[in-house]
Amino acid sequence: MTSIDESDSRPELDPRSGGRTGADQTDVPESLLPGTQEYLEDPRHYGIEEGAPWPDDVPRGQNDTHWRYEDDPRGARVAELRIAFCWLITLLSGIGLAAVYVAGGEAQVEGAFLFAGFAGLGVGFVLWARDLLPGHDVIASRGGLTHASDEADRRLAVQSLGRAVEPMARRPFLGKVLGGVLTVFGVSLVFPIASLGPAVDGQFARTPWRKGMRAVSEVGTPVKPSDILPNGVLTVFPDTGEPLDSQAMAQSAVLLINIGSAPFKVLPGRETWHIGSVGSTNCLVAFSKICTHAGCPVSQYDWWTHELVCPCHQSTFQVLLDCKPIFGPAPRNLPQLPLYVDPEGYIASQSGFTEPVGPGYWNRPIEINPFTHKAVKYS
Ligand code: FES
Repeated sequence: MTSIDESDSRPELDPRSGGRTGADQTDVPESLLPGTQEYLEDPRHYGIEEGAPWPDDVPRGQNDTHWRYEDDPRGARVAELRIAFCWLITLLSGIGLAAVYVAGGEAQVEGAFLFAGFAGLGVGFVLWARDLLPGHDVIASRGGLTHASDEADRRLAVQSLGRAVEPMARRPFLGKVLGGVLTVFGVSLVFPIASLGPAVDGQFARTPWRKGMRAVSEVGTPVKPSDILPNGVLTVFPDTGEPLDSQAMAQSAVLLINIGSAPFKVLPGRETWHIGSVGSTNCLVAFSKICTHAGCPVSQYDWWTHELVCPCHQSTFQVLLDCKPIFGPAPRNLPQLPLYVDPEGYIASQSGFTEPVGPGYWNRPIEINPFTHKAVKYS
């Protein structure tokens, strides 16, 4: 290790700039760029002020341009082929992924190809960096560096980066292989976009409930107000005239609750949505059973406190406050279904829901036109 020559003509050092001031803030001599002997011996390369004692924990003469097969052309060639082989795996995985997708798709196989493709790409990059690129760590002192890098530091960084590209440019074979592999693999990744399907539009906002549909029990029996005693609860579904599939059933499940004489808070515009008078012995209200947090069925009703509890994450909804969440992660009220008693004395709905049920729309407030069942306003 050559000692630092105190008598050379370097400019005065500014401790705040990590060892650079004056002329060298705009002029970084070639000799100070990485790889030169002078660079390796210059204390400024290590963030040390000139003349300051060399810190014990900063090794001198650290060579940050050395690479593994620098002196072994055959080893470098083998390393190149190793990397190309990894990327060949990526290329074949991309072709396999596209072929499986076009043939109808098989999630596990596609996942395996994706894994192999990205793994080959990643391992290839790691091997390239390890075997063919300078990869030496340089330990430097932060010194008095308390502000942004000065112009000289920035220029040095840019020049150093420029030099870092050189070893990569020396490998045209790898560059071509990489370009081809990325093209094929990239195209294969575009195929699954077709699986996104049509736009969701307002389908999560719609349930099978419509104007005049009777509420029926799980076994299809129409329900009369007298079937639910005070403080009683019944899960009902819309009578669409045909069997509901499991998704429609899950989406349209409604809790009919007889809140008895409890003081239910009627929201403006919803004065006719319940059956019976608020404060009388029997007052029936209906709310979606689908939790607005993550869609679990809200099924535990405490008639004493008039609270509904979701068993999944304990969101608690106060029925008397229009099923407002008073505890837990649910972000909004359970939607209310407007009810009436049809001429035959059965409970039916005045319309569908006027807001999305469940956790759809990621909790954006939304209004649904009750006649067209389309979203009419997002906010
Ligand atoms: S799904 Fe109901 S609290 Fe999470």
